[in-house]
Amino acid sequence: MNQADGLARRWRETREGKRIAPSILSADFTRLADEVVRMERAGARLLHLDVMDGRFVPNITFGPPLVASLRGITELWLDAHLMIEDPLRYLPDFAKAGAESITVHVETGVSAVKLRDEADRLGVRLGLAIRPDTPMEATLDAIGEWFDLILVMSVMPGFGGQGYMPGSSERIAAAAQRARSFPRRPVIEVDGGIRSGTAGEASAAGADWLVAGHAIFRAPDPETAFRALQQEVLEPRNRSRETR
Ligand code: DX5
Ligand code: ZN
Repeated sequence: MNQADGLARRWRETREGKRIAPSILSADFTRLADEVVRMERAGARLLHLDVMDGRFVPNITFGPPLVASLRGITELWLDAHLMIEDPLRYLPDFAKAGAESITVHVETGVSAVKLRDEADRLGVRLGLAIRPDTPMEATLDAIGEWFDLILVMSVMPGFGGQGYMPGSSERIAAAAQRARSFPRRPVIEVDGGIRSGTAGEASAAGADWLVAGHAIFRAPDPETAFRALQQEVLEPRNRSRETR
């Protein structure tokens, strides 16, 4: 099997169903490998990697070398979320490091067509992140069809541990509704403030991948916390309501 076929198969397997995506931003970096093993044991299929440059967002995190180190120790799908200016310039570095989906922010003003060409050349899946203060429908109508994944931010990007913003579920529902008409059938991902309660709500609204940082890595037992969230998104809220 060639590399492109291998990635296409991994994408098909990872994109199907509801997935909790642990964000290592809130993990203990002194023992990151152990944290990753814990997530593998708990049943995670992907890791969410928050890259911040201190310019697009006030915070600074990590870059391609850390992604490459993770690639060396895990088979999990690596989902990079670039909160950086000039993302087109860095796409090759993150792809080479082993990121498999790379998501960039619409607010950077980057060209969707150029991104698509570059992602296809590099053989990665391409995501579009949309901040809470950016119009959702207009953005998706203009460029949504070019992307494999739509990341609905439910907090202002920059820091873990914030609260799920009011109106986020409506934005997820709007994105999911639009996405149904796009030929690529993009994955709907939500990021920020996902914990017990908001996970079920965001999932019911139409989110496929749900990023969780604090709710997993700051919990007394991250494995148990992961499993509880995964369970919550597998059981639609409506069903638990009906059986009440
Ligand atoms: C915020 C990041 C998130 C963050 C989520 O800018 O994009 O991925 O890690 O953290 P929690 O789950 O703690 O809100
Ligand atoms: Zn993120």
